[in-house]
Amino acid sequence: MKKIILTLAVLLLPALVNAAGGGVHLDQIEVDFNNKSSLQRGMKTYVNNCLGCHSMQYQRYLRTAEDIGLSAALMKEHLIFGEQKVGELITNNMPKADAANWFGTAPPDLTLETKLKGSDWVYTYLRSFYQDESRPWGVNNSVFKDVGMPNVLGYLQGVQLNHCSAVELAENSTEIDPLTGVEIGGCYSLVEGSGEQTAKEFDRTIYDLVNFMSYIGAPHTMQSQSMGVKVLIFLFIFFFFTYALKKEYWRDIH
Ligand code: HEC
Repeated sequence: MKKIILTLAVLLLPALVNAAGGGVHLDQIEVDFNNKSSLQRGMKTYVNNCLGCHSMQYQRYLRTAEDIGLSAALMKEHLIFGEQKVGELITNNMPKADAANWFGTAPPDLTLETKLKGSDWVYTYLRSFYQDESRPWGVNNSVFKDVGMPNVLGYLQGVQLNHCSAVELAENSTEIDPLTGVEIGGCYSLVEGSGEQTAKEFDRTIYDLVNFMSYIGAPHTMQSQSMGVKVLIFLFIFFFFTYALKKEYWRDIH
C-alpha cells in the first residue's frame, strides 16, 4: 500500500510543478508544430518585437528555416535584420550590463523559456499586462508581478485595465457563457480603439508567437514526430514480410 501511495505521489509531482503559475489562473494552449504558417507568423512577431532585447542564442536561423518551412533566402530577406548570416545563431547586440541598468534585470535569453515556465505560462503572461501608473513603464503584469519588461505589444493589444485583486485573479480570470461561448465578466477590459488588433486577433498573434517559442524550446520534437511516422510505416510493411516468412516456415508442418 505504502509503495502505491509513494508511486502516485511521484507521478503527480510534475503536474504540481507545472501548475505553479504564481497563483494566477493560466490560460491553456495546444501547441501545433505542424502548423507551419503559425510558426512563421510567430517568428515574424518575435524578430520584430522581442529579438532586440531577448536573444535565442542556442538556435540557428538555418535550422529554424528548415523546420518552419522557409527557404534560407526567404529567411535572410525577411527575418534576419542587420549583418547576420543565415548559418548564425539567433543573437542580438544588447549589452547585458547596460540592459540590467535600464530594466532592473537584463532581458533573459528565451531559447528555453517555454521549457522553463511552460507554454501556458508564457501565453498568459504576454496577454496579462495591464495599466499601472505606479510602475516605471506604466504597466504591471498579473502573472509576473512588478515585471521589469515594458508592454512591447501594447500597440497591438491596446490599453488593458485590470479590475481584480490578486485573490480574484487566482480564482479565475474569466467566465465563459456556456450558451454563446463568449467571455462574460472577467478581470480585464480594453480601452476601446487603443490597439491595432481586436482581442481575438491579439490572442491569435500571441498563440502563434508562443507556438513558435515552444518549437524553439524543443526543436527535436519535430524530428521525433516525423521519425515516429516513418518507423510506424516501416513496421507496417515489415509485418507482411514477417507474416509471409512465418507461413513459409510452418507450411510443411501443418
Ligand atoms: C525593451 C526590451 C524588451 C523587449 C523588446 C521584450 N522584453 Fe521580455 N523582458 C524584458 C526584461 C527586462 C525582462 C525581465 C523582467 C524581470 O525580470 O523583471 C523580460 C522578461 C520576459 C519574460 C519572462 C522571463 C522570465 O522567465 O523571467 C518573457 C517570457 C519575455 N520577456 C518575453 C518577451 C517577448 C515574447 C517579447 C516580444 C513580444 C519581449 N519579451 C520583448 C525586456 C524586453
